[in-house]
Amino acid sequence: MSQEMQGKLCLVTGATLGIGNATALGLARKGAHVVIVGRDAARTREAAAQLARESGNPQVDFLVADLSSQAEARRLAAEFKARYPRLDVLLNNAGAIFTQREVTVDGYERTWALNHLAEFLLTQLLRDRLEASAPARIVNVSSTAHASGTVAFDNLQGEKKYSAWSAYGQSKLANILFTYALARRLAGKGVTANCLHPGVVATGFGHNTPGFLNIVLGLARPLLMTPEKGAATSIYLASSPELADVSGKYFAKCKPIASSKLSADVALQEKLWELSERQTAAVG
Ligand SMILES: NC(=O)c1ccc[n+]([C@@H]2O[C@H](COP(=O)([O-])OP(=O)(O)OC[C@H]3O[C@@H](n4cnc5c(N)ncnc54)[C@H](OP(=O)(O)O)[C@@H]3O)[C@@H](O)[C@H]2O)c1
Repeated sequence: MSQEMQGKLCLVTGATLGIGNATALGLARKGAHVVIVGRDAARTREAAAQLARESGNPQVDFLVADLSSQAEARRLAAEFKARYPRLDVLLNNAGAIFTQREVTVDGYERTWALNHLAEFLLTQLLRDRLEASAPARIVNVSSTAHASGTVAFDNLQGEKKYSAWSAYGQSKLANILFTYALARRLAGKGVTANCLHPGVVATGFGHNTPGFLNIVLGLARPLLMTPEKGAATSIYLASSPELADVSGKYFAKCKPIASSKLSADVALQEKLWELSERQTAAVG
């Protein structure tokens, strides 16, 4: 274990497996105090114990929340704030793709609710804690899949027509639009916001998607990156001293790259921000 991130508190969502788990491990190995979030208490407790064991860092805690529920996201933020006085890195990693259209307890399509609204809401609720802990960082895990996404305001919830990839691409585009709008709001406050594509990684991704998609992902598995390699850009954005003042950028392979033309549309970023505020009743 190194001392590189000693004294830093990092909150990582979706860290029971996959890229989030490998990211939490990397941050724990750098000496950070890591708090992981999972939706299943037993699995999340076991993941925290595994991370502490493998990193040699006993400072790995866990909190439980199903982020597709806004009440759970609010409870998570309240529990976090009650327990921890600071937050140096918020790593919004949890995300999934769903073959079938499902609606959450709040009445939103599940991909939109989990991949975008939860990230928006949790960040809004923890922003004051991040600003009070400045310098601090927000890292949002998007995907190259954003490039095929559009924000279909007339079919946002897949209510007219649902496709898993369209819903996923839309949510990953929203991650980038949100990051850019957030970076503008955080300018001068000592908190950076960046986003990334992790690579195409062999994880549990797609396990919620029975059928064709799951079969394709299963067949491709041997060709994919390991979660450790897939976590490299997240860890870099969360920890690298050279990024202390870098904000509002999209990264892949630890390098800033251009995101889609649509993601750079400031009017769209602001329209999405207003919509997300309304859909989460969170003002930022
Ligand atoms: N894998 C890739 O090739 C790839 C490529 C580009 C982008 N990404 C992005 O990388 C991120 C991580 O994906 P991954 O591939 O590591 O997927 P994964 O292995 O399926 O892990 C997803 C994590 O999110 C958690 N999660 C799922 N639904 C949740 C909910 N409702 N509430 C709280 N936590 C929930 C899962 O917890 P459970 O244990 O409860 O399921 C798990 O810890 C996602 O944002 C994804 O879009 C992945």
